[in-house]
Amino acid sequence: MIQTNSSEKKYATQNQMLEQAANQKNAGQYEDAFNSFQSCLEQYPGCAEAYCDAVSLVEEQASLNISLEEFGTTYNTESLQNSLITSMQTVQAAGKIEEALSYSGALCTLDPGNWMFPALTGKLHLNRGNFEGAISAFDAALHLAPDNIQCRDNLLKTFYYLGAGKFDANTKRWVSQFLKEPDTVDIGVLARVWLMLLFTDPDYLEIMGGLQHTDYNDFKQWLDNLSEETLSNITHDYILDGLRICVVANINVERLLAHLRRTILNYSIDNPNQAPDWATGFAFALAEQCFLNEYIYEETEDEKEQLEILVKALKNNKDITPFSVAALACYRPLNSFPALPKTFLKILENLPEQEEGLFQRVIRQQIEEPETEQKLKENIKSFSTIDNETSQKVRDQYESNPYPRWISTGAVENDEGNFVFSETDPLQHHDILIAGCATGHIPIKVCKKYPSSSVTSIDLSLSSLAYGLRKAREMKVENLEFKHGDILELENLKQQFDIIISSGVLHHMKNPEAGWQVLADILKPGGLMKIGLYSELERQHITDCRQYIVDHKIPDTSEGIRQIRKIIAGLPEGHAFRKVMPFNDFYSTSMMRDLLFHVQEQCFTIPRIAKALNDFDLEFLSFSMLLPQAVQQYSQMFPDDTSMTNLEHWNEYEHRYPDTFTGLYQFWCRKKQ
Ligand SMILES: C[S@@+](CC[C@H](N)C(=O)[O-])C[C@H]1O[C@@H](n2cnc3c(N)ncnc32)[C@H](O)[C@@H]1O
Repeated sequence: MIQTNSSEKKYATQNQMLEQAANQKNAGQYEDAFNSFQSCLEQYPGCAEAYCDAVSLVEEQASLNISLEEFGTTYNTESLQNSLITSMQTVQAAGKIEEALSYSGALCTLDPGNWMFPALTGKLHLNRGNFEGAISAFDAALHLAPDNIQCRDNLLKTFYYLGAGKFDANTKRWVSQFLKEPDTVDIGVLARVWLMLLFTDPDYLEIMGGLQHTDYNDFKQWLDNLSEETLSNITHDYILDGLRICVVANINVERLLAHLRRTILNYSIDNPNQAPDWATGFAFALAEQCFLNEYIYEETEDEKEQLEILVKALKNNKDITPFSVAALACYRPLNSFPALPKTFLKILENLPEQEEGLFQRVIRQQIEEPETEQKLKENIKSFSTIDNETSQKVRDQYESNPYPRWISTGAVENDEGNFVFSETDPLQHHDILIAGCATGHIPIKVCKKYPSSSVTSIDLSLSSLAYGLRKAREMKVENLEFKHGDILELENLKQQFDIIISSGVLHHMKNPEAGWQVLADILKPGGLMKIGLYSELERQHITDCRQYIVDHKIPDTSEGIRQIRKIIAGLPEGHAFRKVMPFNDFYSTSMMRDLLFHVQEQCFTIPRIAKALNDFDLEFLSFSMLLPQAVQQYSQMFPDDTSMTNLEHWNEYEHRYPDTFTGLYQFWCRKKQ
């Protein structure tokens, strides 16, 4: 007989007990099976399988008449929790998501007060593409931890993945809350979900009827017949908060807003003292939206004439009301009328309280903040001159159109840091460089996540840096320094970094690899780098559209931008150029310029990325920002590549699914030791 040591013996006995319980279950002897699982747990308190199977049995067999709540917490010990977590991770790594879900469900039952377990369940559902399951799990997690940023962010993303369907009051409740606390979620996703809900929300169905009136006169007639109650709905916080924070990325809703803007302008000329209630509340939020999209809406000749009348009246101090100022701010930034601010401030002194806040917001956004940015430019030090010819052209573009104009950083994306956060301690000190930081939203996010680190942010555009510095001061971010200069000259900083992030930047250089080499040289051995680059395959339609712009001599001006937007929006459904229409970039001037009129860009392929990584001694770690279905499809195509790091496979995958890297390839890599 073979001697076994005691731990092997114990293991065998545990298995025997599990087997016996399973046999009883299969034979329909549910009570006996349940008792066997319990005996097993009593003898082996850390037995994840026994606990998990018992929970499933109780859930499946109502005839047992056992309360899951009561049974659930009976065996709650650290060892059982740990072994359930380990079992869940093991089966998850093996791609057995169903099994992983039963372990995560068991963990929720074991410790119902712990938000982490429903949050884990939500992530598993998300990986499986079960968005409804994910929503109820994240919802449950947020009931336990209402402020948890990761759960909020995941819940919102899931609403987005689920897409528009029936109106759902729970989604609206969350979205309304996120609009009030936009720093807790991804703002781009928030904008999409906010807009998506508008189409099915019973509160706005009537207003959305305006979408069908393309002609302004038809629209006006229709508007005049709406009841006051219907019109008052557009001053709900849900609408106004959304307009202030989110760029409206839908061409039909944009037309509706443009019609409403024109109505506001008419009122401001005809009767500025008696504008309807809805128009006053709405005009201020629309002014903020128009500033945010940099006045991208089309203007008719009629509007241009009316605008001149309005400006004249304001300059002559005639009929100045907060409403007429709001109407003007819907068409032009207020700081483009240097003679006017004193008049505006005078108005402010006599405003009723409820209008004061609205007015102040617009004055702050359109006069005070740009003034502050102008002054802050003096505080930004340069580490190099900008001598490279391409860098000079790129700088000029971003000096006149700092990009992006943002209000809130949103939450730190889960993915932003998956690698960094699992491999580095956010509370430890790291030297971090953001190369091509633009208007500062990425550096500020990173600073929030890494409060003990020093973050250096560099860019060619002083206007963009000043925007970032103003936001950083407002948000009291102290571990961040903005510096002006060219990536090509970064060795002047005489510093090495633990983490470097450069997203959407290198492809705007004449020789992106030369810039990348500089970044690799100043990354410490073992340091992490995140790079974002345009994909040649995914951007084919953009490349073609850029060529169309050149061929048709469409100028790189606000008018030119409006012209190409009109052309694209008028193309038949299914035309490749229309692929740009669902994206935010289509709905703001600086983003459109960045997207279709850039002075310098070139696209990458995965083999080109692989070569550069090899040349610079960088090891590929992971693509980020992949949609769940891409992860699923890739795993099915290449089940052996569990780390999903084989770039040859990814190249094959991208050729099969060319829309995978929408916007950018974004990936983490590490400098070899
Ligand atoms: C498209 S924006 C992307 C910005 C930012 N990473 C983001 O995702 O929002 C590109 C930015 O890179 C900056 N940039 C381009 N070439 C650069 C260079 N050679 N040195 C420094 N910054 C550069 C531009 O000034 C611009 O602000």
